[in-house]
Amino acid sequence: MNKAVGNEVVAYRVQGRIARIAIDNPPVNALSQAVRAGLKHAVEAAQADSSVAAIVLICEGRTFFAGADIREFAKPPQDPRLVDVILCIEQCTKPVVAAIHGTALGGGLEVALGCHFRIADAGARLGLPEVKLGLLPGAGGTQRLPRLVGLKAALDMVIEGNPVPARKALEMGLVDELAEGDLGAAAQALAERIADQGLDLRRTSRLPAPPMDEQWFAEVEQHVRKRKRGYEAPLRCIDAVRAALSLPFEEGMATERELFAALKASPQSRALRHAFFAEREAGKLPFSAPARRIERAAVIGAGTMGGGIAMCFANAGIAVQLLEKDEERLRQGLARIQANYDGSARRGRLTREAVAERMALIHGTTLFEDLHEADIVIEAVFEDMAVKHEVFRELDRICKPGAILASNTSYLDIDAIASATQRPQDVVGMHFFSPANVMRLLENVRGPRTSESVCASVMELGRRLGKVAVLVGSCDGFVGNRMLSKRTRESYFLLQEGATPYQVDRVLHGFGFPMGPFAMADLAGLDVGWRNRQGRLASLTPRERDCDILDRMVAVNRLGQKTGGGFYEYDADRKAQPSAQAEAIVAEHCAQSGIRRRDISDQEILERCLYPMINEAAYILEEGVAARASDIDVVWLNGYGFPAYRGGPLCYADQIGLDTVLEGLRKYEAEHGSIYWRPADLLVRLAESGRGFHDMAS
Ligand code: CAA
Ligand code: NAI
Repeated sequence: MNKAVGNEVVAYRVQGRIARIAIDNPPVNALSQAVRAGLKHAVEAAQADSSVAAIVLICEGRTFFAGADIREFAKPPQDPRLVDVILCIEQCTKPVVAAIHGTALGGGLEVALGCHFRIADAGARLGLPEVKLGLLPGAGGTQRLPRLVGLKAALDMVIEGNPVPARKALEMGLVDELAEGDLGAAAQALAERIADQGLDLRRTSRLPAPPMDEQWFAEVEQHVRKRKRGYEAPLRCIDAVRAALSLPFEEGMATERELFAALKASPQSRALRHAFFAEREAGKLPFSAPARRIERAAVIGAGTMGGGIAMCFANAGIAVQLLEKDEERLRQGLARIQANYDGSARRGRLTREAVAERMALIHGTTLFEDLHEADIVIEAVFEDMAVKHEVFRELDRICKPGAILASNTSYLDIDAIASATQRPQDVVGMHFFSPANVMRLLENVRGPRTSESVCASVMELGRRLGKVAVLVGSCDGFVGNRMLSKRTRESYFLLQEGATPYQVDRVLHGFGFPMGPFAMADLAGLDVGWRNRQGRLASLTPRERDCDILDRMVAVNRLGQKTGGGFYEYDADRKAQPSAQAEAIVAEHCAQSGIRRRDISDQEILERCLYPMINEAAYILEEGVAARASDIDVVWLNGYGFPAYRGGPLCYADQIGLDTVLEGLRKYEAEHGSIYWRPADLLVRLAESGRGFHDMAS
């Protein structure tokens, strides 16, 4: 090893005629300043060494470069810039072979594009995921990729950000060879062969750009505006690729650079980068405890949630028993699962064999005794404490010691559920979101007596099921639904005061939510919210009780999409139109309660829907129900469709400034009373000291 050339993360060694540059920057070989400097230095050394005929660039550890070091984005840029390192590689007069394993992502793939040859391990994946961080590939990716793989394939990779597997990369011409066996040896052999045969160096930047196709670009842009509503980066990706086709390489690079710099400084990219790290933080527990082994699972209740949860296990290859009250309901539940999988097969998302394999992992039963071997049981029966108690008493009697007993309850107290058992330390909440087999969020709820090892186990299980799991404390509605209930309350008050359901929904849709609260209520069924409300009437304030719009809708059977009308009217294609009848119901309610209606601005609607949620989140943090502000963002991003480019409710609050939020809370407190609007002490403290939620740790 030549110590004089390498540094702490880059090793340089000459073996025969081949220089091997090996990067070792755990965990994912991000292209930090030290990596960039070491890499450039090593390439220059190989160039200068007359005994070297070819160069292999390879990474140690679990992956090829996973991209630029995202943590450096918040700091001033440091030399050497990645573009210059890549240019140095491309301009080298000796062949450079990239040896790719794991994931070659972002700047990592751009380095590979700067190399003259690419060989990949068969399990490797290659992609430009920058768009997911609100960026575009800023080191030549938008300029080199279309030259190498053609316009359509390149634009798809840049706009969608999804990696392609090695075999597809080979078909596309993105890699030249797949390695059989050991990647290092195969890359060395390829480099020897290239040196022997004196093959021409293929510099990607010198390949001709594909011809311009303006009409196609216009169509793609229109499509992207619709499908990625509100996102800036995909549109800028299109601009950058357009530049690759219409400008000489150097000018295209300059355009890419400008677009990249603007995106990097944008609030959207800051929010998306926050979301990336927040998701990874959420998996870290404040204690270390061993996770229990989970090989056999069981789910109780084959309804909406139970069926979806059983599918999550089957999708992850874990055998699961599904228990129902009687044979008929069991049959119906299994048939719904089968129909769901069949739909996926029809749409080409699953093969028939995969469907059969998954169904074979789901075993129906009506006997609690059959669950005695289960490592975990997740209850998803009706939201009724008496029914939950009955089920948990049975589980306590049947389940083996050490089995985890989980409830999918949306609101109920985990400790109260646990008291039906002699083993409260093994009882935990696992709050999946509907549809459970699709939604990424898993809110794991720790009761006051739940053991650390059970918490660690359900967090680990969440990862295995492909979920984003967040550990929260037990309280009414936990984190997500507790905050949602404040928004729901305020949105009904807004109707009373003069807004229409359509206006409220339009404002929240415009903010970036997939739908507003009334369209969402129509989708879930108004009877669901109504039943919840009935169970709480005693604890409601007089104004909440009097605001009986929901009761009136249910009384005339306007239950939402399932009855063809709720807050909206629906045609056969479920297309929504504002409903004169729903508006008349609201007006009638207002007339009877003597409320004078007024014009309400969009800004007021936005503030009155979002600020109470932010304030409630501050209470949640004060009470320790959530451990970190970023956990609350993760819940809302993955469970409630909060626009990712706003980074979650607390990232958004920080971006607009907590002083602004506090001012709004105080204004509405003066108008509507402290009972709804008293600012949380934490929020006041942070706002008055000029800090944000995400400065709390510092
Ligand atoms: N920069 C800095 N840190 C990174 C990183 C990056 N690009 N990618 C991952 N990490 C960190 C994670 O934060 C995590 O750190 P902690 O252990 O401290 O939490 C650690 O590496 C492991 O990451 P994961 O938990 O995500 O590990 P995984 O095995 O599940 O996934 C991965 C690995 C597929 C590489 C995934 O981390 C990933 O997708 N990373 C982001 C890749 C990316 O977006 N690259 C583009 C960067 S932007 C760019 O390159 C711009 C440009 O053109 C110049
Ligand atoms: P559901 O009514 O669709 O299904 C409940 C199923 O449980 C029914 O099939 C019923 O036959 C079965 N069941 C009832 N008692 C049983 C018993 N003693 N033994 C075996 N099976 C029994 O209800 P859904 O919507 O699936 O809700 C289940 C739980 O999930 C509730 O606690 C709910 O609050 C929670 N939840 C619901 C969400 C939703 O969007 N529907 C979202 C997140 C949580």
